[in-house]
Order: sequence, then structure tokens, then C-alpha cells
Amino acid sequence: MVISTVGVIGAGIMGSGIAQVAARAGYSVIMRDISDSFVSRGLGVIRKNIDRDVQKNRMTREDGDSILRRLTGTTDIGDLARCDIVIEAAVEQMELKKKIYIEMDSVCPPEVIFASNTSGLSITEMAAVTKRANRFIGMHFFNPVPVMKLVELIKGAETDGDTLLAATDLVEKFGKQSIMVNEAPLFAVNRILVPMLNEAMFVLMEGVASAADIDKGMMLGANHPIGPLALSDLVGLDTLLMVVETLYNETGDSKYRPCPLLRKLVRAGHLGRKTGRGFYDYSEAK
Ligand code: 3HC
Repeated sequence: MVISTVGVIGAGIMGSGIAQVAARAGYSVIMRDISDSFVSRGLGVIRKNIDRDVQKNRMTREDGDSILRRLTGTTDIGDLARCDIVIEAAVEQMELKKKIYIEMDSVCPPEVIFASNTSGLSITEMAAVTKRANRFIGMHFFNPVPVMKLVELIKGAETDGDTLLAATDLVEKFGKQSIMVNEAPLFAVNRILVPMLNEAMFVLMEGVASAADIDKGMMLGANHPIGPLALSDLVGLDTLLMVVETLYNETGDSKYRPCPLLRKLVRAGHLGRKTGRGFYDYSEAK
């Protein structure tokens, strides 16, 4: 199948990143969120990233402007009917995602592919609320999307070969590489990465080392580009808590219990970079 228009549900950190990458690859993009302010914030982030690319001579102003022209923001889910594929990057809550898919299913023609950017929820469960479970796939991007080279492709119980092929091709056109994963809680990368982030929080909570030393330790001792606590702040602590909870609830294995310190920070509204405070203080950087 030929994909020319990509729909994105959600204009947050991940949604706007996916929209930027799709527009940069030459696709027309329709990015939908529930309020005008969310949509314009997402478009603003993309504009800022493109401006930086132009300033750093990574693209011409002309190319930057044509990327921006390919992007449309909307609050009307009906606009997604014009898309060939819709990539959903809504909040990590199964019931909310199901509601969105039921609505999308009634709006989009049956041949439109649905892809979820979920960090680890069941693709099969989401697909089951639609009449196109065969044309439903997981496309898991990594934060920050414009920079990270991987997209995990997750096969649900009914995902068919054509859908897999179309998604593989799209990832390549986006300038990224894919790995193929069979559905399992948190898929492959997050299954390995997220318990490490959670463990770093226990190390901090138990007073084993300071946040700065934990991060320095993992950067210099394990060659990670940033430390686990700084990475948690980048991902967003609310998202991370929902992701760890998925792993814990789906497996019932106590080794995956969320660190109480993570829960405490989320309850206090300290969600990481996006709120200016998480394990670190970003108020001056804002
Ligand atoms: N959007 C676009 N570009 C960005 C960006 C963003 N949000 N953040 C950084 N960049 C780009 C910048 O353009 C910068 O290049 P420039 O200076 O030439 O403009 C380049 O990345 C490097 O950025 P910095 O110099 O500011 O900082 P770093 O060298 O530390 O790199 C990083 C930043 C790429 C984020 C690096 O720290 C890194 O790779 N960290 C690990 C990221 C990671 O592990 N992500 C996965 C998270 S898990 C996930 O997403 C799954 C989910 O389901 C939970």
C-alpha cells in the first residue's frame, strides 16, 4: 500500500516528535489533540526544533518551511479520515486508548492502518475494540523521537503480514531502523530499560548514592549517554510510573514493583523536565 498522509494522535513529547519525523520524511501529517492549546504547543516544539536545524545548517530555511507546511494541527478526530496510517501517542492508559480507537474506527476507512506508540500496553487488547485487528500494529518510538534511531514494531495476535511490511517500510522512510517484537508486557527494550531506571530510584531512596553520583556512575561506568535518573526526568515520571505499573500488573512479579520514591514524586506533581522538576531541578533551564 502507498502511504502519503500520516495521522498522529497526541501532540505531546512523543506525538510531536513523530509528527516532526514524518513531515521531515516528506509525508503530509495531521496531528490531532483534544485542545487547541495542546496542538499549538506541539506545533511550537516542532517549529523550534526545525529552527535549530536551520541555524545549525542541517537543513535550508526553504526545506524547513516546507516541512512545516506539510504539518496540520487539528482537534477534530474526523480529519484523520484522510490518513493512510494513524499513529496514536496518547497517554499510557488502556481505557483512554480504547476510547480513542473506537472513535477512530468509526471515522477512518477500513484500510487505514492503526499503530500505537504505547510503551508497553497490549496491542492485541487495543486492536480488539476495532474492526481491523489485522491492520493494527505497535510502533514504539523512543524519546527524543527526532534523535533516537530505533522503532520497535510489535505484532499483536491478529497483525497481518501486509501491515507489518507497510510499517517496516515507513520506519525506513522515517530514516530509522526497526526491530520486530512479539507482543509481551513492555515489549523488548522497555522490558530491559525500565527496571534499570526503577532500580536506580531504589538506589537513591535507600541512600546508597546521591542522584548525581548514580547518574555519573552509569555514564562513566557503563557508558550510558545520560544517567538513569536524568533519563527518567526526560521520559516523564508519570509516564514511567504507568509503564512500570504495567510490567508489575501484567507479570505479578514483585521484582517489578514501582519504587515508592517514583510514586511520591508523581503525586507531588514533579514529573521531570516537563514540569521543571523531577529528580533534578530544571526551573532555570525553562
Ligand atoms: N528534540 C530534538 N532534538 C533533540 C532533542 C529533542 N527533544 N534533545 C536533544 N536533541 C538533539 C539536539 O539537536 C542536539 O544536537 P545539537 O546540539 O547539535 O542541536 C543533540 O540531540 C544532542 O543533545 P545535547 O547536546 O543537548 O545532549 P546530549 O548529548 O546528552 O544528547 C540525548 C541528548 C540524545 C537525549 C542523549 O542524552 C541520549 O541519547 N539519551 C538517552 C536517550 C534514551 O535513552 N531514550 C530512550 C528513553 S526510553 C523511551 O523513550 C521509551 C518510552 O516508551 C518510555
